Amino acid sequence: MSRRPLLVGNWKMHTTVVEACQLAAAIRQGCSDLEDRDIMLAPPATVLSEVSHIVHGSGIILAGQNVCWAAEGAFTGEISPVMIQGAGGHAAIVGHSERRQIFHEDNAMVNRRLCGGLAQGLLMILCVGETQEERESGQTFAVLAEQLRGALDGVTPTQCARLAIAYEPVWAIGTGLTASGGQAQEVHEFLRDQVATLYEKNIAGHMRILYGGSVKPDNVDQLLAQPDIDGALVGGAALDAASFIRIVHYKA
Ligand code: PGA
Repeated sequence: MSRRPLLVGNWKMHTTVVEACQLAAAIRQGCSDLEDRDIMLAPPATVLSEVSHIVHGSGIILAGQNVCWAAEGAFTGEISPVMIQGAGGHAAIVGHSERRQIFHEDNAMVNRRLCGGLAQGLLMILCVGETQEERESGQTFAVLAEQLRGALDGVTPTQCARLAIAYEPVWAIGTGLTASGGQAQEVHEFLRDQVATLYEKNIAGHMRILYGGSVKPDNVDQLLAQPDIDGALVGGAALDAASFIRIVHYKA
């Protein structure tokens, strides 16, 4: 089954307006030759609108780094799906391990966010991943199955067309440690099987499953060469235009 590759740059809490516009402009220019893959940028919400002007017409998709389930209301510090759309975004990430670990978001909250974003028509990236401790104690698959089941509760088969999963082993995020192609492939295959069990084989076959965790220009090719790795969610290396442009130009 052919799945269109998706390369995502997650800028996390980096970039002022000026820096974000420069980075977005460089990425736009450096990626303008590619038509066979989707490119998504997740800048901080404070620069989403400005960046949307920079990438307008390029096909680059803009995403929020998180999203609230409600359209509006008394949710200090939160950003709604409608606000992301109003600022020029069409997508959002949920369940990032930094949200889970630092801000204590559990599977139930990730589920509310995911459902809220999907209901409003956003393209959603659901992050899952085990910690080092969980991997060492042999719980990787159990943890991932629970994260998936919990997050996907109430998500309809139709909505799955606007969903991508990002496998991000927590021990590989920002650490310079990367899962080997084989290690990641094993998990991606498992996740695809889980989607087939929760929905059906055809939906699982179309679902894009991205890898994230210290993706760099020098490891992207071997990761993306794996049959069940359909793209990458990139943090640190996405802040450097040349690195990200090289990652997007991966050769599998
Ligand atoms: P990293 O971050 O590429 O810096 O490891 C990935 C992520 O957190 O999405």
